[in-house]
Amino acid sequence: MAMIFAEESRTFSEYLLVPNLTTEDNIPDKVDLSTAIVRYRKGKEPARLKINVPLVSAVMQSVSDSGMAIALARYGGLSFVFQSQSIESQCEMVRKVKKYKAGIVSSDSNLHPEATLSDILALREKMGHSTVAITDDGTPGGRLLGIVTSRDYRVSRMDPATKVSEFMTPLEHLITAPEGTTLKAANDIIWEHKINQLPIIDDSGRLVGLVFRKDYDSHKENPYELLDKNKRLITGAGINTRDYKVRVPALVEAGADVFCIDSSDGFSVWQKSTIEWIKSYNPDILVGAGNVVDAEGFEYLADAGADFVKVGIGGGSICITREQKGIGCGQASAVLAVSKARDEYYNRTGVYVPICSDGGIVHDYHMTLALAMGADFIMLGRYFARFDESPTRKMLVGGNYVKEYWGEGSNRARNWQRYDDGGTGGKMAFEEGVDSYVPYAGKLKDNLDAAMAKIRATMCSCGSSSIEELQQKARLVLVSSTSIIEGGAHDVIQKESDRPR
Ligand code: IMP
Repeated sequence: MAMIFAEESRTFSEYLLVPNLTTEDNIPDKVDLSTAIVRYRKGKEPARLKINVPLVSAVMQSVSDSGMAIALARYGGLSFVFQSQSIESQCEMVRKVKKYKAGIVSSDSNLHPEATLSDILALREKMGHSTVAITDDGTPGGRLLGIVTSRDYRVSRMDPATKVSEFMTPLEHLITAPEGTTLKAANDIIWEHKINQLPIIDDSGRLVGLVFRKDYDSHKENPYELLDKNKRLITGAGINTRDYKVRVPALVEAGADVFCIDSSDGFSVWQKSTIEWIKSYNPDILVGAGNVVDAEGFEYLADAGADFVKVGIGGGSICITREQKGIGCGQASAVLAVSKARDEYYNRTGVYVPICSDGGIVHDYHMTLALAMGADFIMLGRYFARFDESPTRKMLVGGNYVKEYWGEGSNRARNWQRYDDGGTGGKMAFEEGVDSYVPYAGKLKDNLDAAMAKIRATMCSCGSSSIEELQQKARLVLVSSTSIIEGGAHDVIQKESDRPR
């Protein structure tokens, strides 16, 4: 006869944290949000990969491309670049992240010298930048011939057909710096020469990138930036259980730091063989697996060698897996069950296998609840999709700005590998996700600053200065549906402009 779990499964919104004693040590500035994301012998060795804020972006087309990976790593988190694309294009995205140099940006407004003033004006209108690099072939990596800024032309006095070569500031009048110049040295040059931007060029005169005066302060503002030992940003990459023998070596070559097997149901022999193959190919490669929702699933993947285990089936905002297949578990219950299994595994083996709560985060406080319930880090899709840095279109719908967000199991993404049932492959018999809009929310940094401030404040209320301490000390209470109503502003007429985000 079928086994029936004794308790019903629950979601984050059904719980609240009960405060512990807050002491002089519990002040937000002292809260450490860094967290180990790969297996290690706790107390005996450091983990091989830690992130500085406990958030990673979902392995999804509409969330994690190179732009998101750069923005999030610069903030201290990590992206897993989506795998539902060709190996070549995924590697290209990873390479872009690894090549990114904080403060040295690839020039995105470029023209060749035969272009005209009207081309400059059109480009300025399109890109919103006043600096245009003039290269021999008009590409960002062409041989630098000059720069045009708004100081080089007067629209009212000049013929729009004037050639760029006639009014650009030519290379011989520009201050440039050679490839390899550090950001600090570049800024010294900018200050010394009172210039606004500094082109960096290689030995053959090709443009490597530009350093802008205005960017310097913003780069100093990122104390949590996630960097590898060569000072390059760290990035993850999604993989599947089909083409890993080709995809993983290519992604390693491109510079990916950590992998995540992307699947809606990770309790499978295919995940085991994928992990085993990767570890035999190179035991130093870090690979997480999932998703699972119970102790059995966790142990299976931990025994197989997974470096972390991802938790969650059916809780994603765009997910219809539960409706379509009738499988899954409330996200809070899943995290509680798997974190208990993780602790037992650690007590038994001495190996700590971090777990990632994936999907279902709606409010910022859900992040703190997920951590308190035992998650070592959190994966989010909808949350990140709303920001400027996500790869999708920003649109005006019904008078409101929105961004597109679609599931990997939707008809739009057709990521059949994620829903691979071991059959002949290449087909998706039914959808497990929807195509949607999410409210546009501005810049990643502004939103993360607010969310991290809330997490720190709650951790202080719970007398905790680290994620581990929160997990040990947290006291959670189930809330009735009426007390949930009590939790929001109620019985007042709230002024629209005063509503907190
Ligand atoms: P969200 O943060 O609630 O939007 O959930 C994001 C998570 O949903 C991802 O990390 C995936 O685990 C999961 N997911 C992504 N696409 C789909 C889909 O099409 N169907 C079901 N789950 C999905």
